[in-house]
Amino acid sequence: MDTRRRNVATENARLVEVDTSHWFDALLERAPLRADVLAEPPSGSGLKPVMGDRGIPFVGLGINTVRHGPAFQMQLMRRHGPVAWWQAFGRKVVAASGPDAVHEVLTNKNRAFASGWPDIIGPWFDGGLLAMNSSAHLTDRRLMQAAYGEDALAGYLRQMAADADAYVARWPVEHRFPAVPALRTLSGQMTAMALLGVPYDTEGRDIMTAVEQCIRAETALVRLRVPGTQWHRAHRARRALIAHLADEVPAARSRAGADFLSVLSRVGGTDGFTTEQIAHHMLFTLIASHDTTTTAAFAAVYFLGKHPEWQRRARAESVARAGLPYGVDRLRGLDTLELVVKESIRLVSPSPIAMRVTTRDTDILGHFVPAGHLVSVCTAVNQLLPDQWPEPHRFDPERFSGPGGEDRAHRLTWLPFGAGVHKCIGMHFGMAKVKATLDALLRRFEWTFPAAYEAPWRFTSLPAPADGLPIVLRETA
Ligand code: HEM
Repeated sequence: MDTRRRNVATENARLVEVDTSHWFDALLERAPLRADVLAEPPSGSGLKPVMGDRGIPFVGLGINTVRHGPAFQMQLMRRHGPVAWWQAFGRKVVAASGPDAVHEVLTNKNRAFASGWPDIIGPWFDGGLLAMNSSAHLTDRRLMQAAYGEDALAGYLRQMAADADAYVARWPVEHRFPAVPALRTLSGQMTAMALLGVPYDTEGRDIMTAVEQCIRAETALVRLRVPGTQWHRAHRARRALIAHLADEVPAARSRAGADFLSVLSRVGGTDGFTTEQIAHHMLFTLIASHDTTTTAAFAAVYFLGKHPEWQRRARAESVARAGLPYGVDRLRGLDTLELVVKESIRLVSPSPIAMRVTTRDTDILGHFVPAGHLVSVCTAVNQLLPDQWPEPHRFDPERFSGPGGEDRAHRLTWLPFGAGVHKCIGMHFGMAKVKATLDALLRRFEWTFPAAYEAPWRFTSLPAPADGLPIVLRETA
């Protein structure tokens, strides 16, 4: 049976099923798959081969990946099982999907898996936790915890919530504008003071523009350091950022401020970080926190606009707490918003895969994977599996309410923040930032999207609506 074409004519169908309504996707779907084995298992090992698809010569199924994201990986899983492979732009990538396969890779069975991010995106995470392995990673992660403690988070949150409030007040009302760039800018505005201790409108904007250059270069296809290319500009931006952040460390240390750089700079001393390490960790923190939280905000704004009943419920709680000072206590009572954000990042996982590479010959669920192969851990697929999530395409925040919430059915089915040693260290920070963003919007505005509107999610980098998510805000009475 050709499992490529199926029909789910409901809301969010494209998030779980490859959508072929566009002629280009219909054409792609007709391209030969050229199924093959990844590698023959060693004789006598008892291991099975990993089956997968070569697709179009060189390009493979790379275009399908960026156009359909998790829906493509679901399709691959249906064709070949929880351990499969596909070719993308000249590389063979193994896909591990479903709770059991994901468990084997993320718990790093037999220590056969290392971070695969540097292999796939280039040098952009260098010196950051996600590019590190083994004891070096553990040592640095332990030191970094100081910047994620409860008191430190409370300080960042106070600043971010106040900034979100001030900046959304500048947003236009009663006319259509794209929410995607506005939310990206807002994320930068919330980051500048809270993470770096600098105002956005002067120094912060330049820093965040340079950070975005590095983020966009992660998915560049042309990777030559030739002047004029995106890759070259991003290298220059990164060098300048590292130098600038290192220069700032002494001042950040002595001002004893509540911003992230200041807190991190105090993790010094003989066993602590060098200035150079602080600059690298700071840059990776900016990269790791910016796009993930904006994608989560895109998703929550979108689903709240599609579901006015949930928007009304969430707004009532925000308005009821508007008199409280910005900070942890105010967010704590926003129970509806918590459910909405959890469900939004289930359907649109901001970081839909974790990338690993095999350090030696190994197996996943008894399937042979040779050393040196990239493994895409398809965490977003687990959030959409019909046997784990009834009607997985449906937006239903109620899934997460009560003690029997569906995310607790299996511990590896709700994975927006990953799992294992690299599990997001900024999870509470991230949830707080996204909720502070939505809280500021809900108190000031209401918005809806037409019933027929479906955001065209694209997965070139982290998920974002390709049309910029056009929105019209109205001031609440
Ligand atoms: C909604 C927001 C966020 C999402 C969905 C998210 C998601 C993730 C995921 C999936 C990973 C693991 C990737 C892997 O295993 O390959 C990760 C790691 C990481 N995240 Fe987040 N993140 C978010 C916000 C943040 C924020 C706000 C910060 C910092 C302020 C942050 C800092 C990090 C760091 C430093 C790591 C690497 C941890 C390690 O390697 O030990 N993240 N994040």
